Amino acid sequence: MPVMSIAERWFCQSPPWRWVAGRLVLGWALQGVPLRGAVLELGGGSGAMAEETIRRHPDCELTVTDLDRVMVAAAERRFANEPRVTVRHADATALPFTEGSFDVVVSHLMLHHVIQWRQALEEVSRVLRPGGRFVGYDLVATPLTKGLHWADRSPHQLIFRHQLRPALSQTGLQAAEVRTAVGRQAMRFTATKPY
Ligand SMILES: C[S@@+](CC[C@H](N)C(=O)[O-])C[C@H]1O[C@@H](n2cnc3c(N)ncnc32)[C@H](O)[C@@H]1O
Repeated sequence: MPVMSIAERWFCQSPPWRWVAGRLVLGWALQGVPLRGAVLELGGGSGAMAEETIRRHPDCELTVTDLDRVMVAAAERRFANEPRVTVRHADATALPFTEGSFDVVVSHLMLHHVIQWRQALEEVSRVLRPGGRFVGYDLVATPLTKGLHWADRSPHQLIFRHQLRPALSQTGLQAAEVRTAVGRQAMRFTATKPY
């Protein structure tokens, strides 16, 4: 099964999206959570957010992962000469990293493409070190977002707002916060791995 439709794959790699994601969305999505140390990005695509992440956060070493090998290849080209970025092919539901490997895990607009998204949250909790943070944003399941994805035909499992906070808590993450935005079509989230 394809990870995303050709249209959405094209959109995520397009220069306009790269500009919007890096310049307008990144700061909003990170909600002031400091990015220092080992940072893991799930479903980072071709690196739209990652490019700006390392520019704005000089104290982090970023591992960018994606399930789609086309995206991974594009990210590898983008960061070929950037020693602070490692690009890995990885499924968010079965991360190839040992427990407690990361200070921060970020997830931007990707969870709704992970059919087993609860399993991805379990993996986030596993690979975070005690005190580590999970932060990012996604779409909310609404008639509008469902309609767009139905038309686009990308495999997806949109998440209702009321589902996310309990799901984060069930993985053992604490202080989970979910805030809707953009006319309740999107939600930003943060959670912390307890000591
Ligand atoms: C809408 S794109 C967002 C890309 C990037 N985060 C951005 O903000 O530009 C969703 C990304 O999630 C990836 N993805 C989907 N399912 C995944 C999974 N199970 N594990 C890792 N990445 C996945 C897709 O290949 C795609 O690159």
